[in-house]
Amino acid sequence: MKLDVVLGLQWGDEGKGKIVDVLAGRYPAVARFQGGPNAGHSLHFNGHSFVVRSIPSGIFREGATNIIGSGVVLDPVTFREECGNVAKMGIDAKERIRISKKAHLILPTHKLLDAANEAAAGKGKIGSTLKGIGPTYTDKISRHGLRVGDILAPDFKERFAKLKARHIQQIKDLDYQCDPDENEAEWMDAIEFLKGFNLIDCEYFVNEWLEEKPMLAEGAQGSLLDVDYGSYPFVTSSSTTIGGVCTGLGVAPSKVGHVYGIFKAYCTRVGSGPFPTELFDETGEKIRKIGNEFGAVTGRPRRTGWLDLVALKYTVMIDGVTDLIMMKSDCLDSFETIKVCTSYIVDGKETDQFPFDTAAEITPVYTEFKGWNQDLTGMRKEEELPDAFKEYIKFMEDYLKVPIKIISLGPDREATIER
Ligand code: IMO
Ligand code: MG
Repeated sequence: MKLDVVLGLQWGDEGKGKIVDVLAGRYPAVARFQGGPNAGHSLHFNGHSFVVRSIPSGIFREGATNIIGSGVVLDPVTFREECGNVAKMGIDAKERIRISKKAHLILPTHKLLDAANEAAAGKGKIGSTLKGIGPTYTDKISRHGLRVGDILAPDFKERFAKLKARHIQQIKDLDYQCDPDENEAEWMDAIEFLKGFNLIDCEYFVNEWLEEKPMLAEGAQGSLLDVDYGSYPFVTSSSTTIGGVCTGLGVAPSKVGHVYGIFKAYCTRVGSGPFPTELFDETGEKIRKIGNEFGAVTGRPRRTGWLDLVALKYTVMIDGVTDLIMMKSDCLDSFETIKVCTSYIVDGKETDQFPFDTAAEITPVYTEFKGWNQDLTGMRKEEELPDAFKEYIKFMEDYLKVPIKIISLGPDREATIER
């Protein structure tokens, strides 16, 4: 059976939580393969609202197994908190979740280092969520990290102390004032909690599972935040694109089936970095207000702008997207004119390719559409959709050369049209 994948195609916050929750009804397992608690995936159903951070968005589906894969970085404290929240819904996290022994642990000092790095960067800061993501992946790549499976080792405490000492030196070098012991007792307590979980050899678990049953992989962040292909250095520290699925779960590319690419009908970005179609006017403000574009994790107002098809075509290509999923077009219901960027002017030349130097002056070239001026939120069938909206969708499919298979017209599970 195949491993189908859901990937965000923009700068994160595309609505992955909702879609994974909708699709999870068809998959007996959902797996996170990268990222950590920098993610904030929102789910709405039966009058309940939830934000999950490290727990996969399949957690509320009866009988589904949820896997935290090897490519993930896990903060035991946040994770324990999340488990407490789902317990309020009567869900036993220990029964539904499996954690890869190879996932890396976020230490309290990783978070302090994140803050120290950002403080030292001044104006050039990334706008990190400060969850310790960058420093944890740095330790992984430089071969100093601690993994979930290590918590069972008799010398775990010593290894922890060694890594912590390294971090204290780094924090000192950055001239950052903080208490390195802060939150350590709570963290150690959460490690004990983690020991009660089923810790797995993820690569065997996933491959054996796929011999009999399908699985859905849930991306965090978006492809434009990918460490290799995003707007570097304003990216996250993991592989958010399709390759990250294989390394993060230990599966071969031949096992991948559908690649669902999610995008919003406009763009948002939270944190620093280039954003060619960003709006600084009342239109941008209107999008933020109607779309409720405030961070699910940090509460920060998100930067907003028109849909960027140049960037989208780029990520569709990298990820090999087979099915597109369009989110939040209902937020554009009241706009007279809707714009989409179809090319850039860079150095006086028009191009439809995403440039290497994203800090360069990029002028977006727009195609304009007449707004449909109709409330789409109650629509549940393709036939009900207005002609102006259908034209807009057709234009995007022609440009991207991939069909839009799902249209989401509101946060709830039910507000979804499949084509
Ligand atoms: P979901 O999964 C949007 C952004 C941060 C910052 C940059 C690096 O909810 O879509 P990091 O904390 O990873 O070192 O921050 O990446 N970022 C996100 N933006 N959605 C996310 O996750 C994000 N996770 C990280 O704002 O600009
Ligand atoms: Mg989010």
